[in-house]
Amino acid sequence: MAKVTIDNIEIEVPEGTTILTAARMIGGEVVPPAMCYYSKLKTSGGYCRTCIVKVSQGSAKDPRPMPKPVASCRTTVMDGMVVQNITSPDLLEARAGVVEFLLINHPLDCPICDQAGECHLQDLGYEHGKMNTRYEFKRRTFKQIDIGDYIKLHMTRCILCYRCVKVAEQLTPGRVHGVINRGDVAEISTYISNAVDNEFSGNMIDVCPVGALTDKTFRFKSRVWFSKPVDAHRDCPKCSGKVRLWFKGNDVLRVTARKDQYGEVEDLPDGKAGFICNDCRFHKKKIGDWIVEKPSHIDRHSVISQNHYENLAQLKLDVSKQQKKLQAGSKK
Ligand code: SF4
Ligand code: SF4
Ligand code: FES
Repeated sequence: MAKVTIDNIEIEVPEGTTILTAARMIGGEVVPPAMCYYSKLKTSGGYCRTCIVKVSQGSAKDPRPMPKPVASCRTTVMDGMVVQNITSPDLLEARAGVVEFLLINHPLDCPICDQAGECHLQDLGYEHGKMNTRYEFKRRTFKQIDIGDYIKLHMTRCILCYRCVKVAEQLTPGRVHGVINRGDVAEISTYISNAVDNEFSGNMIDVCPVGALTDKTFRFKSRVWFSKPVDAHRDCPKCSGKVRLWFKGNDVLRVTARKDQYGEVEDLPDGKAGFICNDCRFHKKKIGDWIVEKPSHIDRHSVISQNHYENLAQLKLDVSKQQKKLQAGSKK
């Protein structure tokens, strides 16, 4: 075990734990933001640098500070390490610089972006952003691209976090998309316009931290905070069938995986990540397709946790009545 102190809070964690995971074990304000790390995707992290922290003491054996901020998602703790996140004004200024870089080419079209309300970049921009830009060059822009039947790519919003590439590598057979080119011309692309149409490709939408990959069956249908999230399940031969339904009135507007406070898909009881298949996500949009469990608990720093319904009785939508009606209809 290794003892690490993060923002004056001491915690003992197993050797090999990253600073970010140790901070998540403490929880609350000391947890650095993470735009590219995704605990359910192997080798994620190390691309965006939003998770940087200041290591003011390397370890008990070698107490020298690390010379520059380090990516907490890729740096493992050492016994006696002292880390500063929100307690270091210098570090917060450095993170504001990272956010400024992420926003250099970003359109900030939050008023028309489907990710608004559940976007970490929006939160970061709000928390660290400056009112004005110092960037004087032409912003790069891209045309929207259909990748597969269900996903639209707005490359202008992409922050090149590689999460979707990891989903394609690790969840789907035969990856056909990735990052092409380097530097300021790098972009997500389906190689030679191949469509991404395998049955777990929809998870790329769930892991995308911004509005770059959008669900064509949902886009522009509603602002996310006007819909009511409800946990539901079905018997699915391809995935766990445990999902989150987003209702507007009695209509299921969107189906997503269930996500935790870090915007990552929740673990299933067997410890596996709860990624869902395209069938559940795109083709099951009737209440009768699902067994509704309860209103979702949204534990995120987001506007969706406002205007939220924890008690089924408070839902204007009488889901069980609707289901009984549908089931009675199908028996006739
Ligand atoms: S991705 Fe986030 S910050 Fe960018 S336009 Fe959409 S909501 Fe706004
Ligand atoms: S499309 Fe989204 S998930 Fe993929 S690299 Fe860009 S920001 Fe990340
Ligand atoms: S979350 Fe650590 S570098 Fe992106």
